[in-house]
Amino acid sequence: MKNILVTGGAGYIGSHVIVRLHEEGYNAIILDDFSNSNKSVLKGLHKITGKDFRVYEGDILDISLFEKIFHENQIEGVIHFAAKKAVGESVDNPLLYYKNNVTGLITLLESMTENKIKNLVFSSSCTVYGQPDSLPVTEDSPIRPANSPYGNTKQIGEEMIEDTVKSGAFLRSIALRYFNPIGAHPSGEIGELPLGIPNNLVPFITQTAAGLRDSLTVFGQDYNTQDGTCIRDYIHVMDLADAHVQCLKYLENINNPNHFDFMNIGTGTGSTVLDAISSFENQSGKKLNYQLGPRRPGDVEKIYAQVDKSVELLNWRTQFTLDDAMRDAWNWQKKLSSI
Ligand code: NAD
Ligand code: UD1
Repeated sequence: MKNILVTGGAGYIGSHVIVRLHEEGYNAIILDDFSNSNKSVLKGLHKITGKDFRVYEGDILDISLFEKIFHENQIEGVIHFAAKKAVGESVDNPLLYYKNNVTGLITLLESMTENKIKNLVFSSSCTVYGQPDSLPVTEDSPIRPANSPYGNTKQIGEEMIEDTVKSGAFLRSIALRYFNPIGAHPSGEIGELPLGIPNNLVPFITQTAAGLRDSLTVFGQDYNTQDGTCIRDYIHVMDLADAHVQCLKYLENINNPNHFDFMNIGTGTGSTVLDAISSFENQSGKKLNYQLGPRRPGDVEKIYAQVDKSVELLNWRTQFTLDDAMRDAWNWQKKLSSI
């Protein structure tokens, strides 16, 4: 069984990837400092898979921890999720983000190349495109100046990996540019666990419906879209998880010892904020308390992916709809709130 190190494996996306890795016969090993996750996720993973995963609790800034992991386990590949991800916080505390996301990645790359660990999947984001000139956005679209330190860490991360590969290091890596991951494992045993007030739309919707928040504000009603609200490409987290596993298999089959590429991971379909709310209401049977409000500074008007490249190269496609994702997000919220 191949061992795959999953940094940030206790987090939202990482935990769902661990389930898919397990289903595909990989042995996932978790490295996490639990700075933005809860150990209860390990119980959820056990309930779904029947397995207790090996966990290294610690910081990606600690190179001795990587050395220990690489010496104690024969690692075939790394999926690197561990990062801070709150856009607003990154504006207030940029050095925290550069330290964690950029220095953390340097530490990982140093240790991987030193220990000849060949395959790396990196969590990037559609934020690298800013507001693209034409839609759907392809991988050929230009990278726009980042509008937050968080976004910049993703651009720098991709560049650092590419330069490392170009330097001749034996490293094969793909940066996956995620669009908007939502939803939860259909069992409701794992899902998104935002600390404090959620920044993202779907946890805010489910917490409002569960009575934890009074109402949702829809940010902007005068965008140039069919109903005036922003358009995003919402992808079920299990489809995103599957893309990671297919990406690992793809890397394993590349003969060239040096390889870098990037791919969009989305559904290819854009939905407005009001579409998302309507889907949630249909799936939950609950009327959501919301009002239309002003735009949120920094939001792009519309973005959705062209996914031809990942579909072709990874032999991957989405299985879940927006409705499925809303059903699963609500199922998860109901379990959390004991509704
Ligand atoms: P998350 O916060 O739920 O998971 C990240 C995990 O990494 C957490 O468990 C956290 O405790 C851990 N972590 C953070 N810093 C660490 C450190 N220094 N050492 C060890 N562990 C550390 O986030 P997520 O939503 O699962 O996102 C995973 C990755 O995907 C991140 O790199 C994020 O930037 C990227 N991404 C997320 C989204 C999204 O909308 N969720 C979109 C695009 C890209
Ligand atoms: C987020 C991240 C971005 C990341 C992207 C892809 C932020 C600020 N940005 O952006 O870095 O690359 O996901 O995963 O976190 N909305 C409301 N009311 C709310 C919350 C959101 O109307 O209370 C709207 C937003 O205006 C947006 C949509 O819902 O149109 C989605 O918002 P969000 O979940 O925050 O994701 P992104 O803005 O796409």
